[in-house]
Amino acid sequence: MKKIAVLVSGGGTNLQALLDAQSRGEILNGEIVAVISNNPEAYALERAKKAGVPGYVLTREQYPTARDLTVALVNKLQELDIQLVVMAGFMTIVTEELFQSYANAIINIHPSLIPSFCGPGCFGLHVHEKALAYGVKVSGATVHFVTQECDAGPIILQKTVEVLPDDTPEVLQRRIMETCEWKLLPKAVSLFCQDKLVVEGRNVRILQ
Ligand code: GAR
Repeated sequence: MKKIAVLVSGGGTNLQALLDAQSRGEILNGEIVAVISNNPEAYALERAKKAGVPGYVLTREQYPTARDLTVALVNKLQELDIQLVVMAGFMTIVTEELFQSYANAIINIHPSLIPSFCGPGCFGLHVHEKALAYGVKVSGATVHFVTQECDAGPIILQKTVEVLPDDTPEVLQRRIMETCEWKLLPKAVSLFCQDKLVVEGRNVRILQ
C-alpha cells in the first residue's frame, strides 16, 4: 500500500474528490495519510479533519526562504514515509530539493489543457480568465508529473470541456472542476499506486 500526502492551499475540492474516491474504494493500493497546507486557514484542512486524516501546516512565515520551506516539507514527507505527493491546488513556490527527493512521484492537477494557459503565475481563476480572453472553444484539465520546470512535466491524463458563449471565469472553473479535475486526479493517483504509470521521456505509458 503506497502512502500518499496531499499538498493544499485553499478550498480543497480536489482533496475532497480524492477522499471520496478513497472511501468508495477507488484508490487501489494507496492510502491518503497526510494533508499538508502552506495556509493555516485553508478549508482543505477542515476536510482532512472530517475524514480523519492528519493535517500539517508549513507556512512561508515560518521559514526565511522557499528553500527552507521545501527542506522542511521534504523532511516531513520522509518522516511520514510518503511515496506519492499530490499537489491539489498547492500554491506556494518549492525548490529543487522536493523534485530530487520525489522524482516521478509528484502529481499535479492543472485546470487547463497543458501546454496552454500554464506556467509561472498561471493558477486558479487566472487560468480561466486567460482561456476566455483568448477565445478558445475547448478547455479542460491536465494531471502531470511535476518536474523543476513549472507545469512542464510528463502528462498523465487530460480531459476536455466545451467553452460556452456566456461563460465567466467562475462558471468555466466550476465546469472544469466537476467534469474534469475531480475525475482525473483520483484516477491518476490510483494508476500511480498500482504501478501502472511508466514514464518514458516526455511520454507516460499507462499499463492496462
Ligand atoms: C483547482 O482548480 C486546481 O486545478 C488549481 O487550483 C484549484 C484548486 O482548487 N490549481 C492550479 O491552478 C495549479 N497551477 P481546490 O483547492 O478546490 O482543489
